[in-house]
Amino acid sequence: MPSEYYYTFDDVLITPAYSEIESRQDIDTSTDFLGLPLKIPIISANMDYITGPKMLATMHSLGGLGILHRFYPWDQQKDDIIALYEQDISVIFSVGVRDLKETLEHVKEVSQYVYGICIDVAHGHHKKVADLIELIKGSVEGSISDKKVIAGNVATLEGVDFLYQSGADAIKVGIGNGSVCTTRTVAGIGVPQLSAILECAAMSDEMKIPIIADGGIRHSGDLAKAIAAGANMVMIGNLFAGTDETPGGTFFINNKQFKRYRGQASFGSNGDRYVKEGIDGVVPVKGPVAPILHQLQAGLRSSMSYVGARTIEEFQIKAKFVEVSSHTLMENSTRVTEVILDAE
Ligand code: XMP
Repeated sequence: MPSEYYYTFDDVLITPAYSEIESRQDIDTSTDFLGLPLKIPIISANMDYITGPKMLATMHSLGGLGILHRFYPWDQQKDDIIALYEQDISVIFSVGVRDLKETLEHVKEVSQYVYGICIDVAHGHHKKVADLIELIKGSVEGSISDKKVIAGNVATLEGVDFLYQSGADAIKVGIGNGSVCTTRTVAGIGVPQLSAILECAAMSDEMKIPIIADGGIRHSGDLAKAIAAGANMVMIGNLFAGTDETPGGTFFINNKQFKRYRGQASFGSNGDRYVKEGIDGVVPVKGPVAPILHQLQAGLRSSMSYVGARTIEEFQIKAKFVEVSSHTLMENSTRVTEVILDAE
Protein backbone atom coordinates (compact mmCIF):
# COMPACT_ATOMS: atom_id res chain seq x y z
CA MET A 1 0.00 0.00 0.00
CA PRO A 2 1.45 3.44 -0.84
CA SER A 3 2.33 5.35 2.32
CA GLU A 4 1.00 8.73 1.26
CA TYR A 5 -2.26 10.01 2.70
CA TYR A 6 -5.35 10.64 0.65
CA TYR A 7 -7.48 13.65 1.49
CA THR A 8 -11.03 14.77 1.15
CA PHE A 9 -12.43 18.29 1.37
CA ASP A 10 -12.62 18.47 5.17
CA ASP A 11 -8.99 17.36 5.53
CA VAL A 12 -7.68 20.63 4.13
CA LEU A 13 -8.12 24.38 4.07
CA ILE A 14 -6.88 26.91 1.53
CA THR A 15 -4.46 29.35 3.11
CA PRO A 16 -5.07 33.08 2.66
CA ALA A 17 -2.44 34.98 0.65
CA TYR A 18 -1.45 38.49 -0.42
CA SER A 19 -4.11 40.30 -2.43
CA GLU A 20 -4.49 43.57 -4.31
CA ILE A 21 -8.10 42.98 -5.26
CA GLU A 22 -10.28 45.88 -4.20
CA SER A 23 -13.71 44.44 -4.84
CA ARG A 24 -15.01 40.92 -5.21
CA GLN A 25 -16.83 42.18 -8.27
CA ASP A 26 -13.39 42.32 -9.97
CA ILE A 27 -13.12 38.56 -9.68
CA ASP A 28 -13.96 36.56 -12.75
CA THR A 29 -15.32 33.03 -12.30
CA SER A 30 -15.82 32.48 -16.01
CA THR A 31 -14.28 29.59 -17.88
CA ASP A 32 -14.20 27.86 -21.22
CA PHE A 33 -15.32 24.26 -21.16
CA LEU A 34 -14.83 22.32 -24.39
CA GLY A 35 -15.35 25.53 -26.35
CA LEU A 36 -18.42 26.63 -24.38
CA PRO A 37 -18.01 30.01 -22.65
CA LEU A 38 -19.45 29.76 -19.10
CA LYS A 39 -19.85 32.31 -16.31
CA ILE A 40 -19.39 29.74 -13.57
CA PRO A 41 -17.68 26.31 -13.64
CA ILE A 42 -20.70 24.35 -12.47
CA ILE A 43 -22.62 21.50 -14.13
CA SER A 44 -25.94 20.16 -12.87
CA ALA A 45 -25.65 16.39 -12.56
CA ASN A 46 -27.11 14.10 -15.21
CA MET A 47 -29.37 12.43 -12.65
CA ASP A 48 -33.08 11.68 -13.04
CA TYR A 49 -34.21 14.08 -10.30
CA ILE A 50 -31.70 16.81 -11.20
CA THR A 51 -31.30 17.54 -14.91
CA GLY A 52 -34.24 17.34 -17.28
CA PRO A 53 -34.81 19.93 -20.03
CA LYS A 54 -35.99 22.65 -17.62
CA MET A 55 -32.86 22.48 -15.44
CA LEU A 56 -30.64 22.27 -18.51
CA ALA A 57 -32.21 25.41 -20.00
CA THR A 58 -32.01 27.26 -16.67
CA MET A 59 -28.36 26.36 -16.13
CA HIS A 60 -27.66 27.57 -19.65
CA SER A 61 -29.42 30.89 -18.99
CA LEU A 62 -27.52 31.38 -15.73
CA GLY A 63 -24.10 30.80 -17.29
CA GLY A 64 -23.54 27.25 -16.04
CA LEU A 65 -24.08 23.93 -17.77
CA GLY A 66 -26.50 21.04 -17.44
CA ILE A 67 -26.14 17.51 -18.80
CA LEU A 68 -29.40 15.79 -19.65
CA HIS A 69 -30.04 12.56 -17.73
CA ARG A 70 -30.76 9.32 -19.59
CA PHE A 71 -33.26 7.57 -17.35
CA TYR A 72 -36.41 8.08 -19.42
CA PRO A 73 -37.71 6.80 -22.74
CA TRP A 74 -35.46 7.51 -25.71
CA ASP A 75 -38.19 9.00 -27.90
CA GLN A 76 -38.92 11.60 -25.27
CA GLN A 77 -35.23 12.31 -24.76
CA LYS A 78 -34.90 12.85 -28.50
CA ASP A 79 -37.83 15.31 -28.52
CA ASP A 80 -36.31 17.18 -25.56
CA ILE A 81 -32.91 17.37 -27.26
CA ILE A 82 -34.43 18.80 -30.44
CA ALA A 83 -36.58 21.29 -28.50
CA LEU A 84 -33.52 22.53 -26.56
CA TYR A 85 -31.49 22.78 -29.76
CA GLU A 86 -34.25 24.90 -31.28
CA GLN A 87 -33.91 27.31 -28.33
CA ASP A 88 -30.23 27.72 -29.25
CA ILE A 89 -28.99 25.75 -26.26
CA SER A 90 -25.87 23.60 -26.50
CA VAL A 91 -27.06 20.17 -25.47
CA ILE A 92 -24.92 17.47 -23.91
CA PHE A 93 -26.85 14.26 -23.35
CA SER A 94 -25.99 11.04 -21.54
CA VAL A 95 -25.55 7.49 -22.73
CA GLY A 96 -24.71 4.19 -21.05
CA VAL A 97 -22.68 1.28 -22.37
CA ARG A 98 -25.02 -1.65 -21.90
CA ASP A 99 -25.82 -2.01 -25.62
CA LEU A 100 -23.19 -0.23 -27.71
CA LYS A 101 -25.00 -0.79 -31.00
CA GLU A 102 -28.20 0.78 -29.72
CA THR A 103 -26.27 3.64 -28.11
CA LEU A 104 -24.51 4.42 -31.37
CA GLU A 105 -27.87 4.43 -33.15
CA HIS A 106 -29.16 6.97 -30.61
CA VAL A 107 -26.07 9.13 -31.05
CA LYS A 108 -26.56 9.08 -34.83
CA GLU A 109 -30.23 10.04 -34.49
CA VAL A 110 -29.47 13.24 -32.60
CA SER A 111 -25.93 14.08 -33.65
CA GLN A 112 -26.97 17.16 -35.62
CA TYR A 113 -28.73 18.61 -32.54
CA VAL A 114 -26.15 17.98 -29.82
CA TYR A 115 -22.90 19.57 -28.74
CA GLY A 116 -21.61 16.59 -26.83
CA ILE A 117 -22.17 13.16 -25.37
CA CYS A 118 -21.57 12.13 -21.79
CA ILE A 119 -20.68 8.47 -21.36
CA ASP A 120 -22.06 7.91 -17.92
CA VAL A 121 -20.75 4.77 -16.22
CA ALA A 122 -20.16 4.07 -12.54
CA HIS A 123 -16.79 2.47 -13.40
CA GLY A 124 -15.41 4.45 -16.33
CA HIS A 125 -12.05 2.65 -16.36
CA HIS A 126 -13.67 -0.07 -18.42
CA LYS A 127 -13.12 -1.56 -21.88
CA LYS A 128 -16.70 -0.86 -22.96
CA VAL A 129 -16.21 2.88 -22.41
CA ALA A 130 -13.13 2.83 -24.66
CA ASP A 131 -15.05 0.77 -27.22
CA LEU A 132 -17.89 3.32 -27.28
CA ILE A 133 -15.52 6.29 -27.58
CA GLU A 134 -13.85 4.53 -30.49
CA LEU A 135 -17.23 3.91 -32.16
CA ILE A 136 -18.19 7.59 -31.77
CA LYS A 137 -14.83 9.11 -32.67
CA GLY A 138 -14.25 6.65 -35.49
CA SER A 139 -17.67 7.13 -37.03
CA VAL A 140 -17.61 8.46 -40.56
CA GLU A 141 -21.35 9.10 -40.60
CA GLY A 142 -22.57 12.68 -40.34
CA SER A 143 -20.65 14.83 -37.91
CA ILE A 144 -20.58 12.33 -35.04
CA SER A 145 -16.79 12.14 -34.75
CA ASP A 146 -16.64 15.91 -34.09
CA LYS A 147 -18.89 15.71 -31.04
CA LYS A 148 -17.32 16.34 -27.67
CA VAL A 149 -17.18 13.21 -25.56
CA ILE A 150 -17.18 13.42 -21.77
CA ALA A 151 -16.37 10.08 -20.14
CA GLY A 152 -16.28 8.80 -16.58
CA ASN A 153 -16.21 8.17 -13.78
CA VAL A 154 -12.67 7.48 -12.72
CA ALA A 155 -10.60 8.43 -9.68
CA THR A 156 -7.01 7.47 -10.52
CA LEU A 157 -4.15 8.53 -12.80
CA GLU A 158 -4.51 5.27 -14.68
CA GLY A 159 -8.21 5.91 -15.21
CA VAL A 160 -7.56 9.39 -16.62
CA ASP A 161 -4.78 8.09 -18.85
CA PHE A 162 -7.03 5.28 -20.10
CA LEU A 163 -9.89 7.61 -21.05
CA TYR A 164 -7.53 10.15 -22.58
CA GLN A 165 -5.81 7.47 -24.68
CA SER A 166 -9.28 6.24 -25.68
CA GLY A 167 -10.10 9.67 -27.13
CA ALA A 168 -12.27 11.35 -24.46
CA ASP A 169 -12.43 15.17 -24.59
CA ALA A 170 -13.22 15.61 -20.89
CA ILE A 171 -13.14 13.27 -17.91
CA LYS A 172 -15.42 12.97 -14.89
CA VAL A 173 -13.67 12.26 -11.59
CA GLY A 174 -15.34 10.86 -8.48
CA ILE A 175 -16.07 7.35 -7.28
CA GLY A 176 -18.36 6.80 -4.34
CA ASN A 177 -18.20 10.38 -3.05
CA GLY A 178 -21.69 11.55 -4.05
CA SER A 179 -24.26 12.31 -1.37
CA VAL A 180 -26.55 9.44 -2.38
CA CYS A 181 -23.80 6.92 -3.19
CA THR A 182 -23.22 3.78 -1.17
CA THR A 183 -20.39 2.38 -3.31
CA ARG A 184 -17.86 2.90 -0.54
CA THR A 185 -19.92 1.06 2.04
CA VAL A 186 -21.18 -1.63 -0.32
CA ALA A 187 -17.95 -2.30 -2.22
CA GLY A 188 -15.25 -0.58 -0.19
CA ILE A 189 -14.20 1.20 -3.39
CA GLY A 190 -13.24 4.84 -3.92
CA VAL A 191 -10.54 7.48 -3.60
CA PRO A 192 -10.98 10.45 -1.24
CA GLN A 193 -12.20 13.15 -3.58
CA LEU A 194 -9.71 15.97 -3.00
CA SER A 195 -6.76 13.63 -3.66
CA ALA A 196 -8.56 12.13 -6.64
CA ILE A 197 -8.96 15.64 -8.10
CA LEU A 198 -5.34 16.61 -7.33
CA GLU A 199 -3.99 13.44 -8.88
CA CYS A 200 -6.24 13.44 -11.94
CA ALA A 201 -5.83 17.18 -12.52
CA ALA A 202 -2.05 16.88 -12.53
CA MET A 203 -2.28 14.37 -15.34
CA SER A 204 -5.10 16.12 -17.21
CA ASP A 205 -3.11 19.35 -17.12
CA GLU A 206 -0.26 17.64 -18.94
CA MET A 207 -2.67 16.22 -21.47
CA LYS A 208 -4.62 19.46 -21.84
CA ILE A 209 -7.90 17.72 -21.17
CA PRO A 210 -10.45 19.17 -18.72
CA ILE A 211 -11.69 17.27 -15.69
CA ILE A 212 -15.02 17.52 -13.93
CA ALA A 213 -14.99 16.94 -10.17
CA ASP A 214 -18.21 15.01 -9.73
CA GLY A 215 -20.13 14.75 -6.46
CA GLY A 216 -19.78 15.42 -2.76
CA ILE A 217 -20.09 19.24 -2.86
CA ARG A 218 -21.91 20.31 0.32
CA HIS A 219 -21.24 24.04 0.22
CA SER A 220 -19.28 26.70 -1.68
CA GLY A 221 -16.12 25.97 0.33
CA ASP A 222 -16.01 22.47 -1.22
CA LEU A 223 -16.54 23.98 -4.67
CA ALA A 224 -13.60 26.35 -4.08
CA LYS A 225 -11.37 23.49 -2.88
CA ALA A 226 -12.28 21.34 -5.91
CA ILE A 227 -11.46 24.17 -8.32
CA ALA A 228 -8.29 25.09 -6.39
CA ALA A 229 -7.21 21.44 -6.63
CA GLY A 230 -7.36 21.70 -10.41
CA ALA A 231 -10.87 20.72 -11.48
CA ASN A 232 -12.04 22.65 -14.55
CA MET A 233 -15.68 22.08 -13.71
CA VAL A 234 -17.66 20.79 -10.74
CA MET A 235 -20.73 18.60 -11.06
CA ILE A 236 -23.47 18.99 -8.47
CA GLY A 237 -26.53 16.93 -7.62
CA ASN A 238 -27.63 17.26 -4.01
CA LEU A 239 -27.35 21.05 -3.65
CA PHE A 240 -29.75 21.43 -6.58
CA ALA A 241 -32.11 18.64 -5.50
CA GLY A 242 -35.55 19.92 -4.53
CA THR A 243 -35.33 23.07 -6.65
CA ASP A 244 -38.20 24.10 -8.92
CA GLU A 245 -36.28 23.23 -12.09
CA THR A 246 -35.63 19.59 -11.19
CA PRO A 247 -37.84 16.91 -12.77
CA GLY A 248 -40.58 15.35 -10.65
CA GLY A 249 -43.44 16.67 -8.59
CA THR A 250 -43.64 17.77 -5.00
CA PHE A 251 -45.47 15.95 -2.21
CA PHE A 252 -46.20 16.43 1.46
CA ILE A 253 -44.87 14.50 4.45
CA ASN A 254 -46.10 15.76 7.82
CA ASN A 255 -47.26 19.03 6.23
CA LYS A 256 -43.82 19.71 4.77
CA GLN A 257 -43.22 19.77 1.03
CA PHE A 258 -40.58 17.52 -0.54
CA LYS A 259 -39.17 16.37 -3.89
CA ARG A 260 -37.34 13.16 -4.63
CA TYR A 261 -33.60 12.69 -4.99
CA ARG A 262 -31.89 9.35 -5.49
CA GLY A 263 -28.68 7.65 -6.50
CA GLN A 264 -28.79 6.35 -10.05
CA ALA A 265 -27.62 2.92 -8.96
CA SER A 266 -30.45 2.69 -6.47
CA PHE A 267 -33.27 1.60 -8.70
CA GLY A 268 -34.62 -0.89 -11.18
CA SER A 269 -33.19 0.50 -14.40
CA ASN A 270 -29.83 -0.88 -13.37
CA GLY A 271 -31.08 -4.41 -13.89
CA ASP A 272 -27.61 -5.82 -14.38
CA ARG A 273 -26.54 -4.85 -10.90
CA TYR A 274 -26.82 -7.35 -8.14
CA VAL A 275 -26.41 -4.83 -5.38
CA LYS A 276 -27.61 -1.27 -5.17
CA GLU A 277 -24.97 1.41 -4.71
CA GLY A 278 -27.19 4.38 -4.05
CA ILE A 279 -29.99 5.51 -1.81
CA ASP A 280 -33.45 6.71 -2.74
CA GLY A 281 -34.81 9.60 -0.70
CA VAL A 282 -36.55 12.94 -0.45
CA VAL A 283 -35.33 16.49 0.08
CA PRO A 284 -37.25 19.59 1.14
CA VAL A 285 -38.35 21.86 -1.72
CA LYS A 286 -35.95 24.77 -2.16
CA GLY A 287 -37.49 27.15 -4.71
CA PRO A 288 -35.58 28.29 -7.81
CA VAL A 289 -32.02 27.13 -8.51
CA ALA A 290 -30.72 30.65 -9.34
CA PRO A 291 -30.09 31.84 -5.75
CA ILE A 292 -28.24 28.61 -4.97
CA LEU A 293 -26.03 29.03 -8.01
CA HIS A 294 -25.38 32.67 -7.11
CA GLN A 295 -24.47 31.67 -3.57
CA LEU A 296 -21.99 29.12 -4.90
CA GLN A 297 -20.50 31.70 -7.25
CA ALA A 298 -20.25 34.26 -4.41
CA GLY A 299 -18.47 31.70 -2.22
CA LEU A 300 -16.01 30.86 -5.00
CA ARG A 301 -15.38 34.58 -5.55
CA SER A 302 -14.75 35.03 -1.86
CA SER A 303 -12.25 32.16 -1.83
CA MET A 304 -10.47 33.61 -4.86
CA SER A 305 -10.27 37.02 -3.20
CA TYR A 306 -8.61 35.50 -0.10
CA VAL A 307 -5.75 34.19 -2.23
CA GLY A 308 -5.52 37.30 -4.42
CA ALA A 309 -6.71 35.62 -7.62
CA ARG A 310 -8.72 37.46 -10.27
CA THR A 311 -9.27 34.46 -12.53
CA ILE A 312 -9.72 30.75 -12.07
CA GLU A 313 -6.36 30.07 -13.70
CA GLU A 314 -4.66 32.40 -11.23
CA PHE A 315 -6.59 30.78 -8.37
CA GLN A 316 -5.30 27.34 -9.32
CA ILE A 317 -1.72 28.61 -9.38
CA LYS A 318 -1.90 30.63 -6.16
CA ALA A 319 -4.09 28.44 -3.93
CA LYS A 320 -2.17 26.34 -1.39
CA PHE A 321 -3.69 23.70 0.85
CA VAL A 322 -2.82 22.91 4.43
CA GLU A 323 -3.72 19.64 6.05
CA VAL A 324 -5.88 20.06 9.15
CA SER A 325 -6.78 17.94 12.15
CA SER A 326 -10.23 16.90 13.30
CA HIS A 327 -10.02 19.65 15.94
CA THR A 328 -9.88 22.15 13.08
CA LEU A 329 -13.11 20.76 11.77
CA MET A 330 -14.70 21.79 15.06
CA GLU A 331 -13.08 25.22 14.82
CA ASN A 332 -14.38 25.59 11.24
CA SER A 333 -18.01 25.29 12.20
CA THR A 334 -20.03 28.04 13.82
CA ARG A 335 -20.38 27.86 17.57
CA VAL A 336 -23.18 29.63 19.35
CA THR A 337 -21.95 31.83 22.15
CA GLU A 338 -24.01 31.88 25.28
CA VAL A 339 -24.40 35.51 26.25
CA ILE A 340 -24.53 35.94 29.97
CA LEU A 341 -26.58 39.03 30.66
CA ASP A 342 -26.67 38.74 34.35
CA ALA A 343 -24.12 36.88 36.49
CA GLU A 344 -25.35 36.52 39.97
P1 XMP B 1 -23.91 14.91 -5.09
O1 XMP B 1 -23.05 14.73 -3.87
O2 XMP B 1 -23.78 16.27 -5.67
O3 XMP B 1 -23.33 13.88 -6.15
O4 XMP B 1 -25.33 14.52 -4.82
C1 XMP B 1 -23.86 13.67 -7.42
C2 XMP B 1 -23.07 12.57 -8.12
O5 XMP B 1 -23.24 11.31 -7.45
C3 XMP B 1 -22.95 10.25 -8.38
N1 XMP B 1 -24.02 9.23 -8.27
C4 XMP B 1 -23.87 7.99 -7.74
N2 XMP B 1 -22.79 7.36 -7.26
N3 XMP B 1 -24.14 5.47 -6.74
C5 XMP B 1 -22.92 6.06 -6.77
O6 XMP B 1 -21.94 5.45 -6.34
C6 XMP B 1 -25.27 6.05 -7.22
O7 XMP B 1 -26.35 5.48 -7.16
C7 XMP B 1 -25.11 7.38 -7.75
N4 XMP B 1 -25.99 8.23 -8.31
C8 XMP B 1 -25.29 9.36 -8.61
C9 XMP B 1 -22.93 10.88 -9.76
O8 XMP B 1 -21.58 10.94 -10.16
C10 XMP B 1 -23.54 12.26 -9.53
O9 XMP B 1 -23.14 13.21 -10.47
